[in-house]
Amino acid sequence: MRQFLIAGNWKMNLGPAESKAFFTDMSALTNDVGTKAEVLVCAPFVSLSTALEAAASVKGFQVGAQNLHFENNGAYTGETSASMLKELGCQYVIVGHSERREYFGETDEIVGKKVAKALQEGLTPILCVGEVLAERKSGEQNKVVETQLKGALDGLSADQIAKTVIAYEPVWAIGTGEVASPDQAQEMHKFIRAVLAELADENVAASVRVLYGGSMKPDNAEELLGQPDVDGGLIGGASMKADSLFKIVEIANKLT
Ligand code: PGA
Repeated sequence: MRQFLIAGNWKMNLGPAESKAFFTDMSALTNDVGTKAEVLVCAPFVSLSTALEAAASVKGFQVGAQNLHFENNGAYTGETSASMLKELGCQYVIVGHSERREYFGETDEIVGKKVAKALQEGLTPILCVGEVLAERKSGEQNKVVETQLKGALDGLSADQIAKTVIAYEPVWAIGTGEVASPDQAQEMHKFIRAVLAELADENVAASVRVLYGGSMKPDNAEELLGQPDVDGGLIGGASMKADSLFKIVEIANKLT
């Protein structure tokens, strides 16, 4: 049985004070998110310490990071290593988000190195894949996602692949209010499992969690999370307010 993972991605939003306020709001809604779905927000680096401390007021609520560097340490100005994130108390880290690929030149090779480093340090990478609109329009979405998955996971053992989380995020649905239909999501998630079976094996493919991301909101989460191969969400806009994220958590709990 795959456990739902409801993961917020705050992107470059919510500094330390706002992160603290988020958890004040969240703890007014609940002091325990339960154990049915795993619940997480990925905060900016500067907010991680505050968010981790504040999250302690809501049992079961985790805080992760949005990026890491693939080296252990050294002369990489502005970068943050996996072991630093681990030391703070993060368990999850987003890797290869489409915004990093688009604005910061992250290639499949770089993304692959980051996934490998996260796993080596005992962090769980949330590997993001997804096609842009032109690729969807020309019917190339499977090819694109397959290339991204293989580029990032090739060379990892089946055990390592089993420890990753995949997020399918069609770029045309991110922050646009346009959402993939439940059928489009299900079809791609099933395809992702087929690629995972090729890279590892059927058991691994059946056990890895595949999240959907792209304008997931309280009013469309039930349909998306209700698909057999959708195991949670990577949620941007709707994760920045405690009440809308909590609504999605409640939907996941209800579906469990
Ligand atoms: P969105 O972002 O929910 O605001 O579309 C999702 C993401 O980029 O992870």
